[in-house]
Amino acid sequence: MSVEKAEMKRAAGRAAAHMVEDGMRVGLGSGSTARAFVEALGERVREGLSITAIASSKKTAELARGAGIRVAEHDSPLDLAVDGADAIERDTLTAIKGLGGALVRERLIAQAAVSFVLIADDSKLFDRLSDSQPAVPIPVEILPFGWKLTHQRLASFGNPVLRVDARGEPFCSDNGNLILDLYGCDYGSPDDVAARIKAISGVVDHGLFLHLATVAIIASPLGISTIKVGGAR
Ligand code: 5RP
Repeated sequence: MSVEKAEMKRAAGRAAAHMVEDGMRVGLGSGSTARAFVEALGERVREGLSITAIASSKKTAELARGAGIRVAEHDSPLDLAVDGADAIERDTLTAIKGLGGALVRERLIAQAAVSFVLIADDSKLFDRLSDSQPAVPIPVEILPFGWKLTHQRLASFGNPVLRVDARGEPFCSDNGNLILDLYGCDYGSPDDVAARIKAISGVVDHGLFLHLATVAIIASPLGISTIKVGGAR
């Protein structure tokens, strides 16, 4: 990652950390931009902010605890959740998430939050989600049981590729599942595609995050901009 991109992620993380208020229950995303948020939030906690956090992955939970943030079970609604994204559509704030492999817990957290905020550098922002193709696949978390059949069913949407880890072994999510990265999906109507993918037995969840984010904090070399659903700034 370039120094400039790392600084943009830190700037987005810091801006989101300033949205957190005393006493909040806060959802923590996963990935490098979410990490920048957790680090900035940790600084605020060490300065006296009192919050309870819910982490979307084991890695984020470990990072948060290390930063001095209290991490609890996900058992009640959240005031705010902050997470990164792989692609964000400017007007709708529809997002593709899950290249970090934490999409199931990330959605459980986003859905529980009164306000779900996306943070990203400007390379993730697209006028239309389809402009992010073919670079950004839709990650789909699936059960290991019968996975080849699930793969076959997903092939009617595009080209599903089994994700592997650094050793070339099938990637295993925090939930013990596999991930298929779906390339070349024609999702003219994302709601329809999302519902049809979710309806396949064996699919646990997919990375299309629709109607969830209310705000996106986008960092560019020129600074931070805040985008609301509908494109308002
Ligand atoms: C993890 C995610 C991440 O938020 C997404 O992949 C963005 O990661 P990064 O901030 O490292 O680019 O969805 O499941």
